[in-house]
Amino acid sequence: MDQIVNVDEFQELAKQALPKMYFDFYNGGAEDQHTLKENVEAFRRIMFRPRVLVDVRKIDMSTKILGFPISAPIMIAPTAMHKLAHPEGETATAKAAAACNTIMIVSFMSTCTIEEVASSCNAVRFLQIYVYKKRDVTAQIVRRAEKAGFKAIVLTVDVPKLGRREADIKNKMISPQLKNFEGLVSTEVRPNEGSGVEAFAASTFDASLSWKDIEWLRSITKLPILVKGLLTREDALKAVEAGVDGIVVSNHGARQLDYSPATITVLEEVVHAVRGRIPVLLDGGVRRGTDVFKALALGAQAVLIGRPIVYGLAAKGEDGVKKVIEMLKNEFEITMALSGCPTIDDITRNHVRTENERL
Ligand code: FNR
Repeated sequence: MDQIVNVDEFQELAKQALPKMYFDFYNGGAEDQHTLKENVEAFRRIMFRPRVLVDVRKIDMSTKILGFPISAPIMIAPTAMHKLAHPEGETATAKAAAACNTIMIVSFMSTCTIEEVASSCNAVRFLQIYVYKKRDVTAQIVRRAEKAGFKAIVLTVDVPKLGRREADIKNKMISPQLKNFEGLVSTEVRPNEGSGVEAFAASTFDASLSWKDIEWLRSITKLPILVKGLLTREDALKAVEAGVDGIVVSNHGARQLDYSPATITVLEEVVHAVRGRIPVLLDGGVRRGTDVFKALALGAQAVLIGRPIVYGLAAKGEDGVKKVIEMLKNEFEITMALSGCPTIDDITRNHVRTENERL
């Protein structure tokens, strides 16, 4: 473990550890995978405007999300089927979240049950949901999450249908959990050809979902509701109007609509529309502490990490996830110090320069 110095190195370790079908599932994006590259590259085009001669002996990375304290603005994004990466699945990820004092968003496609995840650790957990054609299935799981002490619901809105992930189609991606699901949801889907995940989504997800359904969600839960997967000021305003408690700017890790913009390039548009009324989080392509800083400078309250967490889990289980989060935290801490920002509140728009801005 000591030899691993950045999160990207976990990608290679995960590739060695996993069967090709599962690595491709975790790693891949939609179609040309243009957005997949852009999510990472767009961060690289943002440069710093560091300030000097600030007392940075003490750096405080801590912050609060929906009132819940976390050690740094780095949370765990919901990603599907952790048992494909490691036998302990989501419980290992949750234990790492607890050890790192951060929030885990558990995927609706979890391979451990809500109750297993809840009893494995005392991390603050949010539940990500998809709305099924059979709405009572979703409603029941939301109720179970409330009972198990989950603190918020994250409604993912960018999957009316599954994006075309060509590796999964070629590999005929199918997980044992889709055939014989032990996690949150059960299904009878047993596709024979193409991507099993796509067939599952097509038969199960409610593609009619619209803004008025936020009311339905409100009617079945008292938990705060975040909407994950929007990329425009228009939808940000709709989300505020709908009364949600937070937004996650996300293109689903470039797995849905290829040629969606890199998330970091549309963050400010959303932040300006929201005008501080609700928190704005971001995910997609965060691979360095410098990326975390850039997202905060452009107005995000925190970032979510997707693939690097799964790579850490595949390579080294719970310890691998911990190491991924710790590395990002260390890099973020150094970035704060070298930018002259001892606290999160010190990070401002003036600390970064986007590619459109002249010096
Ligand atoms: C995801 N993502 C996702 N999102 C969601 O709302 N529910 C889910 O079940 C999943 N599953 C999933 C599986 C895998 C393998 C990946 C890579 C992603 C999207 C995820 O929450 C997040 O938006 C992206 O992963 C963020 O991008 P990075 O960090 O992977 O670049």
